[in-house]
Amino acid sequence: MNGGWLALVAAGTLAAATAVRGGSRAVSVAVHRDDDGDVFAFLTKNGEMIEDAYLEIRLPSADELRILLVEEGVDTVTAVQPDGPQPVGFLTGMELPDRYQRQGWGKAMLGAAMRKATQIGAREFYVLSLRSAVGFYEKLGFKSVANTAIGPLMRIGLEDE
Ligand SMILES: CC(C)(COP(=O)(O)OP(=O)(O)OC[C@H]1O[C@@H](n2cnc3c(N)ncnc32)[C@H](O)[C@@H]1OP(=O)(O)O)[C@@H](O)C(=O)NCCC(=O)NCCS
Repeated sequence: MNGGWLALVAAGTLAAATAVRGGSRAVSVAVHRDDDGDVFAFLTKNGEMIEDAYLEIRLPSADELRILLVEEGVDTVTAVQPDGPQPVGFLTGMELPDRYQRQGWGKAMLGAAMRKATQIGAREFYVLSLRSAVGFYEKLGFKSVANTAIGPLMRIGLEDE
């Protein structure tokens, strides 16, 4: 659990979070951007955060992305050629509790976070996928651009608003 979640709750920002329609009426997706510019998405149930459902995106510059990738264990960064000076969306973590998986929530959370990244100026988006999650990202349109010891680095272009 990231300390940022607790800060979010303390600040009462859930009430102002963006809701996205999902599978069950009482559950919705909220997105939030913190003071550092990072974007978080999470599930809420009846207005309360579901604490173990989260997603975090960093929005580094192209150069910073290369450094981040090296830190994460990607050795073939030459395969990554972010276009231009815009921020780049980089998904650093995403996890849903078992009981919420395979009901469209992951897609809804990632979609909401990607729209936020687009608004902020990102034109492309990367994730270092676990091998077990590759099918999920492929269904959303991500394509593998490099193989790493962790799993494939996957990329998708973001459309203009
Ligand atoms: C991976 C994860 C985030 C996906 O979220 P989810 O809510 O279960 O996925 P969704 O229900 O939104 O699925 C969207 C589509 O991807 C498919 N899908 C979901 N997980 C998949 C997987 N692991 N492999 C292949 N396809 C998958 C779904 O069947 C669905 O297909 P459809 O549109 O044809 O019905 C979630 O299952 C999870 O937290 N898993 C454990 C942690 C993890 O692996 N995190 C990823 C780290 S890189």
